[in-house]
Amino acid sequence: MTNRKKIAAGNWKMHKTLQEAQGLVHEIRTMAETELMNQAQILVFPPFIHLQTLVKQTEGSNIKIGAQNMHQNEQGAFTGEISASMLKSIQVEYVLIGHSERRQYFNETTTTCREKINKALIHGLKPVYCIGETLEERNQGNHFVVVEEQLQALADVQPENFSNTIIAYEPVWAIGTGLTASADQANEMHIHIRKVVSEILNADFAANVSILYGGSVKPDNAQSLFAMSDIDGALIGGAALNSRDFIDIAKSF
Ligand code: 13P
Repeated sequence: MTNRKKIAAGNWKMHKTLQEAQGLVHEIRTMAETELMNQAQILVFPPFIHLQTLVKQTEGSNIKIGAQNMHQNEQGAFTGEISASMLKSIQVEYVLIGHSERRQYFNETTTTCREKINKALIHGLKPVYCIGETLEERNQGNHFVVVEEQLQALADVQPENFSNTIIAYEPVWAIGTGLTASADQANEMHIHIRKVVSEILNADFAANVSILYGGSVKPDNAQSLFAMSDIDGALIGGAALNSRDFIDIAKSF
């Protein structure tokens, strides 16, 4: 029997001004405090420039704040980039690594993701490592192989960091398209991910790591996804920009 954390995570991507962000977090906090009766952990990943404000705004609540990305180097001449120690210095706890949009538009690879995960863990940040295949890869029957390759980025995670590491499976074809992997399709992949992780690291980590599903998660499909044996939560894009939808998803465990 495992004791995996249930997580509802909202990835805001490049949305919301500061004032809008504060308003949305205020609504999420109020609804979470008055309505959320389960043990779900709420994570919010706003744009970088809102992080410090929102960390302060969520103090003493069940909402934790994370960054959408970080650079793999300690510091240096990388104009426009943000380091792990900078995030840590403003009490950010979580960081998304390898989101498919980072891979697609910013050329991130398994190698860069591996460096980022290692750097995040060194600094005490909790990485949420995102993986998933494109439609073309699935149609060619390569989805399991693609995910296996991406999971190699976790190869250096040490046992003391197992409980700080989260995986998010987001099939690229289901992101922002309204297409969701069926609960069975998603669960099949989550089971596969645990098997691969067990081979790369160990069985204990594989059994206990929270694996989130992402890709058009909405209030009306969350319950069927969360009912599956190996789906421990969701990484939510569009629906996380609406407090009602986001909290309704968090209430679906
Ligand atoms: P959507 O929920 O909008 O499909 O986005 C998913 C996602 O990319 C979360 O990281």
